[in-house]
Amino acid sequence: MNAFYQRSELYAAFFNPNEEIRGAVDRLVRRHLGRRPLRVLDPACGPGLWLEHFVRQGAEVAGSDLEESAVALAARRLPKRGARVLVGDMRRPPDELGADFDCVINLDNSLGHLADYMDVAEHFASIRTRLAPRGVYIVGLALREDGDAIDTGVVYERGPVDIDGGGFAALRTESLGLQPGTRCERIRQITITANVKDTPAVIAEQYDLLTFTFEMLGDILAAAGGFEVLACLDATDESLPPKAFRRSAGDVVLVLRKADPARPRARTAKRAAKRTTTKTKATNAKAAKAKTMSKKSTSTKPTPSPRAATGRGSRGR
Ligand SMILES: C[S@@+](CC[C@H](N)C(=O)[O-])C[C@H]1O[C@@H](n2cnc3c(N)ncnc32)[C@H](O)[C@@H]1O
Repeated sequence: MNAFYQRSELYAAFFNPNEEIRGAVDRLVRRHLGRRPLRVLDPACGPGLWLEHFVRQGAEVAGSDLEESAVALAARRLPKRGARVLVGDMRRPPDELGADFDCVINLDNSLGHLADYMDVAEHFASIRTRLAPRGVYIVGLALREDGDAIDTGVVYERGPVDIDGGGFAALRTESLGLQPGTRCERIRQITITANVKDTPAVIAEQYDLLTFTFEMLGDILAAAGGFEVLACLDATDESLPPKAFRRSAGDVVLVLRKADPARPRARTAKRAAKRTTTKTKATNAKAAKAKTMSKKSTSTKPTPSPRAATGRGSRGR
């Protein structure tokens, strides 16, 4: 069990999605669903930060998480009507949460917490049965090939921030790199707190996150019943600019839809890769220009770490 996730007030204080990423996710959903979502599921919901975002838009929301304390905080934060949260494993979120979701959201590489690729396949197969026919699954994960080099060192540092209920805390997350035997990214995280109820002054922990080769991901999605890749975005930038869907893409957010079994393998990973590469070149140039212009006017913001999605959120940095 992850001690940081068990202190949900801490998680909520650091990783409440900011306006930029909320806007980017809303645009993604609207582009691929054609409207605002009506039913949203987060299968590793933590304290329900994304569920809160969607319930404010009038959606019915459901979520589950392994951590009881996170689910308890989500239940306190969310309205009683239109929201349901339960303790449960994302390999197979509780049936009581229902199905027919037009949006499933699972960001910040939460998927990387699963123990192995069988668990991941079980997760995708289960999500497939929960999605409405045209529903979208917005999922964050890391695409890395054997031998890829990744930047080690500090990937997130923030604080002190005020904690709901009193006290304050600072957080630093470091990547120790890819572990050759397991292909997992090893993360070291240190939280320092002061005057936070029932919380030690220092929480130091280390955990591993699964990463995926391009081929492996394609196989897993096929084994889970088939998904189309509608879009690939750069998870290290909160505006979620498009990114080529390809080997070694790194930390990405994918927009998936159930593949239609009537159509011969609608868009396989390889075909999707070709399409997003072509689209990405043009869109990235546009996005980079817009970003440079907007950076000029907001340069007082502390510069966050350039890398994200290492299982502790990509936001607020
Ligand atoms: C990075 S947080 C994401 C929380 C939330 N989705 C958000 O975006 O704010 C990862 C969450 O995954 C949960 N988690 C880890 N393994 C899980 C599993 N097998 N099933 C359900 N939740 C899990 C952790 O307890 C933690 O709350």
